[in-house]
Amino acid sequence: MIITIDGPTASGKSSVAKALAEQLGWYYLNTGMLYRAVTYLLLNNYKYTLENLTNVAPEDLAACTDHSRFTYHYDPVDGVEIVYDDVTITQYLKDASIDQAVCLISPQPHLREAMCEFQRQLAQQYDVVTDGRDTGSVVFPHAQYKFFLTASLDVRAQRWQKDQKKRGHDYTLQECKERIAYRDAKDQERGHSPLVIPQGGIVIDNSTLDFAQTIEVFLKYIQE
Ligand code: C5P
Repeated sequence: MIITIDGPTASGKSSVAKALAEQLGWYYLNTGMLYRAVTYLLLNNYKYTLENLTNVAPEDLAACTDHSRFTYHYDPVDGVEIVYDDVTITQYLKDASIDQAVCLISPQPHLREAMCEFQRQLAQQYDVVTDGRDTGSVVFPHAQYKFFLTASLDVRAQRWQKDQKKRGHDYTLQECKERIAYRDAKDQERGHSPLVIPQGGIVIDNSTLDFAQTIEVFLKYIQE
């Protein structure tokens, strides 16, 4: 069984997906963390910079996504953990520098194909709730439930601002809006697996809903 939740930046899809996985006792697959991890590895282990990140050598990409070196773990107590060459890198992946860099690398077809394969292999082992940009449209088009979670730019910018504050970064609301709009545009405009509402997807706008109300709406569809 698979439930997919796609949507733009800061729509709350990761928190919702994690909460649903916990309630259902399923595995949680956060696909944004996979793309963040590869971005981190290219910048840190393979010494790429923002200038040449759009032009990654295929062998470096293959090394970053090599299943024997790159692993994803989830358990309800410790959450998501990504390990590369036996080193946990999860704690670096939500950094604002990765936020801005990831959409430079995420359009690359070789990376997307490798990540797609990675996600499908995980889903063979577990019942999965997954979130991302293309999980319902490309990776799991036959999922039992395909959701698209969104909210207004203002609301998403406020959420992102709050989240960044907790991480020690102070951005004005205008800066938050610009950063989010930049990432959304990059994700929507790319040629390979752009952010779209998946065919048959259930659209939920949570601009005026709090977290508990959002979960309630999802469960209503799932229990039906
Ligand atoms: O979901 P999150 O904000 O962590 O995703 C970070 C970035 O990773 C997105 O902006 C997008 O460029 C990329 N991504 C993707 N496809 C996915 C998940 C994330 O391209 N399924």
